[in-house]
Amino acid sequence: MSDLKKIKEEVISKIKGKLNLSEINEIKSNLFGKNGLISSQFKVIGSIAESERKKFASDLNFIKNELQDLIDSKINEIQSAEINEKLEKEKIDVTLPERPFISGKIHPVSQTIDEISSIFSEIGFSVEEGPDVENEHNNFTALNTPENHPARDMHDTFYLDEKKQKLLRTHTSPVQIRTMLKHKPPYKVIAPGRTYRSDSDQTHSPMFHQVEGLYIDKDVNMGHLKGCLNYFIKEFFEVKKIKMRFRPSHFPFTEPSAEVDIGYEMKDGKIKIGEGDKWLEILGCGMVHPNVLRNVKVDASKYQGYAFGIGIDRLAMLKYGISDLRAFFDCDYRWLNHYGFDPLDVPTNYRGLSR
Ligand code: PHE
Repeated sequence: MSDLKKIKEEVISKIKGKLNLSEINEIKSNLFGKNGLISSQFKVIGSIAESERKKFASDLNFIKNELQDLIDSKINEIQSAEINEKLEKEKIDVTLPERPFISGKIHPVSQTIDEISSIFSEIGFSVEEGPDVENEHNNFTALNTPENHPARDMHDTFYLDEKKQKLLRTHTSPVQIRTMLKHKPPYKVIAPGRTYRSDSDQTHSPMFHQVEGLYIDKDVNMGHLKGCLNYFIKEFFEVKKIKMRFRPSHFPFTEPSAEVDIGYEMKDGKIKIGEGDKWLEILGCGMVHPNVLRNVKVDASKYQGYAFGIGIDRLAMLKYGISDLRAFFDCDYRWLNHYGFDPLDVPTNYRGLSR
């Protein structure tokens, strides 16, 4: 038997057995690699006697093609067998129990901010934001708050430098200033966010939340302020009627100024808004002082309007019956699980604010 035939027989018998991919690849390179059995036969063509050379070359080519086809189809066979085996093993077991699905909860303060934003957006207010770290000018001076005002005292305000230039904002009112410096009038914005004062007991936390409101246009008056707050409180507490009381007060940046109380009563240990003869203070407000408008270069002879500042945490406590403010910021997972809201329960006016 010629060399070529021997090679062919050997390969065919090897291929018949069970092989894996690396074994068949090895056979392949032993034949067709640089010094492979078939490759080296090509090198000897030149040294073969001329009379036999032609036949040898054509036999060699024929066997080469034959073996190549055999090996390629074996490779295909092995590959599809491997894939089938994998698929066989990867069967999905639908009887397995599902993995537990844990979803987080929305903090009552976040939920309340969303509710408030939704209510005010219905009557044309957009949302502005300002930084927690403010400068003295925006927090006090531009808001017509004099040097000797008690809010400026170290006991009330967290200053961040010796010169008392930087501080944690004591209210959201500096966002009034930022808004008016940034845009041209009219303004109709709310600004929810964190605020800070040196205060801590059951109803006061050194960090708390406010939402500022500002509406400035050519003929905005105190009647608009009353109407707006009346609408807001009814929407927020989801009641048809409320009792609301404007008490004269003082803020340096509004004139006249008022604090607003809402009427309530306790029934079976639960608070009822809009009934009874008890009063609860929930916000400060007033007509923006002309000095504030002048400080931001808004023509006070053409423009006027109102501002208000509402304590968000307090509203959340009232609406959701939470008695201790400090629990809001304890980060106790059990508390959050109890008082928190479903992440998919997004408050909207038309679908209902809360469930
Ligand atoms: N900034 C005031 C406070 O924190 C509330 C307020 C805002 C009053 C706007 C009047 C107008 O007490």
